Amino acid sequence: VTAVLPTDQPPLMHQAVDEAVRLLKEGEVVALPTETVYGLAANALDAAAVAKIFEAKERPSFDPLIVHLASKDQIDLVADVPPEISATLKKMVERFWPGPLTILLPKKPIVPDLVTAGLPTVAVRVSSNPIFRRVITGLGKPLAAPSANRFGSISPTSASAVQAELDGRIHLIVDAGACMFGLESTIIKIEPGTPKMFIDIVRPGPITPEDLKAYGKVRQATRTVVDEATAAPGQLASHYAPKTPLRLLERPEDFIPEEGKRYALMSYRGEEKDGYLNLCDWEEVMMLSPGNGKLPEAAVRFFYVLRALDKLGVDEIIAEPLHEHGMGIAMMDKLRRASRRV
Ligand code: TXA
Ligand code: MG
Repeated sequence: VTAVLPTDQPPLMHQAVDEAVRLLKEGEVVALPTETVYGLAANALDAAAVAKIFEAKERPSFDPLIVHLASKDQIDLVADVPPEISATLKKMVERFWPGPLTILLPKKPIVPDLVTAGLPTVAVRVSSNPIFRRVITGLGKPLAAPSANRFGSISPTSASAVQAELDGRIHLIVDAGACMFGLESTIIKIEPGTPKMFIDIVRPGPITPEDLKAYGKVRQATRTVVDEATAAPGQLASHYAPKTPLRLLERPEDFIPEEGKRYALMSYRGEEKDGYLNLCDWEEVMMLSPGNGKLPEAAVRFFYVLRALDKLGVDEIIAEPLHEHGMGIAMMDKLRRASRRV
C-alpha cells in the first residue's frame, strides 16, 4: 500500500519529512513535491535505489534522470564544470537556483551510469520547494527524481495525481498541495561561444528564452533535435500523451466534427471570439486560464486539465493553441507531442 502523508500542520510536516528521509536512507523511492511537478525520488548515488525509480515508472533505461542538489555548492560533487563556461554557470545559478532550471554538465564518475543512461552528461538542478529542501537536506545526498508519473503519461501536479499513476508501486507520497509552476523545469546546455555563450534549450519550461537571453545567445534546441535521441532522450515525440487522442487545432476552421463522436475542448479562456466554443456540442469545456487569461495561470492548471479531460472517455480532446511566448512555448511543445502519437 502507498501512504499519502499530509504536510499542512507543522507536526505532520515533520513526520512526513522524517518518514521520507528514513525510506530514502533505506534505498527506497519516495514521491515528493517540487515547485514544478511531483517527482519520484531516490538517492542519486545508489544505483540499486535508482533502479527502483525505473521499475515503478516502467521507464526505459535509455531515458536519463535529473539529479537534484541540496545547494549550488554541490555541483562539483556530481559534475566537472568546463572552465570556459564556469563564469556563465555561476551567474546563472546565482540568478535561477533554487528554481525550475536544469543544466546539463559533464558528469563525474560518482554518478551511476543508470542515472544518466550512459550519457557523458548529468542534468542538475536545485528545487525551491520547502518540503523537498527539507528532505534532501535531511538525507544529505543528491536525489535523482523524474516526474512521478508512469512513463509517457501526464506529469502529476498534485498528490492525488501521483496516486493515480503510482498507487501500490511505491511506499510513500508526501502531499504538499499543488505545485507552484505546474510545468517541468526548463533544461539547458551552456555551450562556449564568442563573443557570447550559447544557451541551448533542450526542454522549454518555466524559465523562458526571455529570462535566459542575458546569459548568452539562446537557441531553441527542441524543435530541431527532438527526434534525435541524443538531445534529450526522454523528449520522445509521444510524451505527455493522455490516453484519449488529442488534437491541437491551430485554427478553428480546420475542425469538422464527425457525427456521433464525443469531443471535449481544452480552451485557453473560453472566449467566443476565439471561434472554438461554437464548433460543436462539446461534452465538456475546460479552461486553462479562466481567471485572468495569463500564461502562468494556464501553466499551473495545464496537466490538471489534461488529466481531467482524459478521464471523460470522449473520442477526442481538442486543444486551442496558446500564445507561443513565455510559458506558452512549453505548453505548445507538450500539446504538439501529445497530438503526435508515434
Ligand atoms: O521539473 C522537473 O524537471 C521535474 C522535477 C521532478 O524535478 N523532473 C522531470 O524529470 O521532469 P523527467 O525525468 O520527467 O524529465 C527529465 C528530462 C528527460 O526528458 C530526460 O531525457 C532529460 O531530462 N535528461 C536528463 N538527463 C539528461 C542528459 N544527461 N542529457 C539530456 N537530457 C537529459
Ligand atoms: Mg517526465
